[in-house]
Amino acid sequence: MELPTALRQAVDRYLEGTPLAALREAADRLSRRYRAETRDGRMHLDDDIAIKAYLAARLPATYAAIRAGMEQVAYATPGFRPRTLIDIGAGPGSVLWAASDCWESLETATLIEASAAARKAGMALSENAALPATLWQSGDATTSLKAGGPADLVTLSYVLDELAPEAIGQLIDRLWALTAGTLLIIEPGTPAGWQRILSVRSRLIEAGAHVVAPCPHHAPCPIQSPDWCHFSRRVARSRLHRLTKNADVPWEDEKFIYLAASRLPPERREARILAPPIHGKGRIDLKLCLPDGTSSQKLVSKRNGEVYRYVRRLDWGDTFPTDDVVP
Ligand SMILES: C[S@@+](CC[C@H](N)C(=O)[O-])C[C@H]1O[C@@H](n2cnc3c(N)ncnc32)[C@H](O)[C@@H]1O
Repeated sequence: MELPTALRQAVDRYLEGTPLAALREAADRLSRRYRAETRDGRMHLDDDIAIKAYLAARLPATYAAIRAGMEQVAYATPGFRPRTLIDIGAGPGSVLWAASDCWESLETATLIEASAAARKAGMALSENAALPATLWQSGDATTSLKAGGPADLVTLSYVLDELAPEAIGQLIDRLWALTAGTLLIIEPGTPAGWQRILSVRSRLIEAGAHVVAPCPHHAPCPIQSPDWCHFSRRVARSRLHRLTKNADVPWEDEKFIYLAASRLPPERREARILAPPIHGKGRIDLKLCLPDGTSSQKLVSKRNGEVYRYVRRLDWGDTFPTDDVVP
């Protein structure tokens, strides 16, 4: 996956003239802080060079994960046409761009972001772009959430891992109260990210939410540690991205986990593919999460004809047709 052209060009313009050594140093610092899930009272994106490093080294990956999650929401609920968006911890506006790409219906967006440097970058990127009318707001999601609302779509992308664990429950309750349609939460695809999503999932189900994706059921997660539920998206690296990360490979795989919870049940509830399909001679092995709350392996062979031809196109994170009926 690549950034939309308009966003890529806006990022290139924003980064023009930034010394590569400074970008590399800031990207390295950022990566160490994210990996360690550092919570030292400082924001990771607290200055201009940190957000520039984020644009060069992280935005393509978080955009890809957000867009992939949204694709699954749109598939499960084709009638969902959000007109309003509230995004918390917006960073440079990754969700705004992905949501506009996914849903043409979007008219207005409120983006709440604690870092002034991130808001400045986000506003610059979206200036003159064909995006919904956007209101950028300063605010701390854990204390002073004045988001207006409610909104059809409420999002929190790659933010939970920056918050104190004890602040998460209350924030989720407030976000759910702001949600008129669907709440989408995205986290890094690590065991810790999965655990956070699991506890958010239980809390939202208890509050009456319908899980739209990725789980095709409301039962306890059938996956057992040390395994964990996550998905992956291949992300193209631009030249500057490669230079910033000192990397040769022109792509990277972004691992992520997400949860979409809605006021209404999904229109489609199909098994979820939990790992890369294994292609053999005339057969494909799938690891599935099933609507009955269990997880199991499924073999689809050439003899399954139409289903086999359909499954050949499917990937990790897609859904598998219920009762083997190809949509
Ligand atoms: C990893 S970035 C994610 C940015 C964007 N959502 C994305 O997915 O690319 C996390 C963002 O959340 C913001 N953030 C962290 N804690 C916050 C809080 N308590 N209130 C508001 N924003 C916060 C950070 O400043 C940062 O911009």
